[in-house]
Amino acid sequence: MANSLLIKKKLSYFNKKISVSGDKSISIRWVLLASLASGLSIAQNLLISEDVLAAIKTVRKLGVKVVLKGKFCKIYGNGIDGFKYKKNLTLNAENSGTLGRIILGFLVNTPNPIKIIGDKSLSKRDFKRIGDPLNKFGVVLKLKNKKNLPLTIYGSQNLKPIKYLEKKGSAQCKTAVIFAGLRTKGTTTIRAKKSRNHTELMCKHLSLPVSVKSGKNYDEIKVREMKKIKPFNYRIPSDISSSAFFIGLAVLSYGSKLLVKDVNINSSRIGIIHILKRMGANIIFKNQKIYKGEKIADIEIKGGRTLNAINCPSKLNSGAIDEFLVIFLIAAKAKGTSYFKDLAELNQKESPRLKWGAKILNLLGVKNIVTTSSIKIYGNPELKINKNIIIKNYLKDHRVFMTSIVAALSFGGTWKIHDKDSIKTSFPNFLKIINELKK
Ligand code: S3P
Repeated sequence: MANSLLIKKKLSYFNKKISVSGDKSISIRWVLLASLASGLSIAQNLLISEDVLAAIKTVRKLGVKVVLKGKFCKIYGNGIDGFKYKKNLTLNAENSGTLGRIILGFLVNTPNPIKIIGDKSLSKRDFKRIGDPLNKFGVVLKLKNKKNLPLTIYGSQNLKPIKYLEKKGSAQCKTAVIFAGLRTKGTTTIRAKKSRNHTELMCKHLSLPVSVKSGKNYDEIKVREMKKIKPFNYRIPSDISSSAFFIGLAVLSYGSKLLVKDVNINSSRIGIIHILKRMGANIIFKNQKIYKGEKIADIEIKGGRTLNAINCPSKLNSGAIDEFLVIFLIAAKAKGTSYFKDLAELNQKESPRLKWGAKILNLLGVKNIVTTSSIKIYGNPELKINKNIIIKNYLKDHRVFMTSIVAALSFGGTWKIHDKDSIKTSFPNFLKIINELKK
């Protein structure tokens, strides 16, 4: 089967209810924490994508039994000291920065060195950001070129608690340090720039010794050594990052209406909603509820309102970090010039996404000025295109692929988008839901 997708026609008006798949961050965290629990944990609606399957393969290699039936998953944890594995173990994080980075926090006391590898995209990404704090605990990480995969982690039996300042707003760094702190006697103190807080909420649900004092831009987190993790069942809510592509399609489609069911609307994840509402989009939350500390709602979007440009405050960046490619498409159709700044982290993702955002806008003929950390987008409310566009060599970044589809279906033209397989990373049934909107 060809691994590229051809789109020749814009999407016409739609009025639909959809459900997207389970949240990736929560799915990976559940797999890892359940693998160290004392007994059987069960997840429903687990995201079945390559990143989560890589997490499952990883814990299986660490001697944990996992039974997977569709989106239903049973993990038989062997307790916090229950990882069992042969010497010379290699774990493959594949494309997943979240897995590759946060698993290290669980391996800080490994008696034998463990090698971590990843795919071409992950092997270009920065692991020094995890190596530095883990070194302070007394763990040694040998990294290729001092910052990349492959790496080898040499654990310590004499971990020392640390004080750590996390300035990037990286939930992966914060989580790796929380997990390391849970294995360490004494109190580890983290001052972390606000970022997604699923780990903290899960630890609270599990009554693990993690306390959070929430500040305006930073949180102060204190972590002590854990004694055990009780088994825990979890119904994974839908992923706002996967919903974002459909929210974008609806916002850009005159007269369309969409309801995305049961989405995780944790306040640390809804930057896209704040940004699009400020631009004039019509989006509301319905049926709000709380599940194990996580907020969940149906998201209703009515499309086609006139959109205004935004001078995006940096404080909204971390809550929208995985959604900026879609947000740039909305800015492309807004009235006026939008400005997004302090976004150097976007170039640290599966591909350099700030660059890719600018590239897609250039292909659309939308004037923009991009630097290493910002982008100015000169919106055009009449934006329509009628030319051939090819998208390739984007390091198979799933979000570049899905954003290109949103652009093709919203603005027209004939698009050939390579590496369709990339969606398997986070959202394998993305195209199936796109087809539901066409019916
Ligand atoms: C994630 C954190 C974010 C995000 C990634 C998932 C997580 O990365 O971009 O898709 O699950 O912790 P950073 O921690 O690098 O910002």
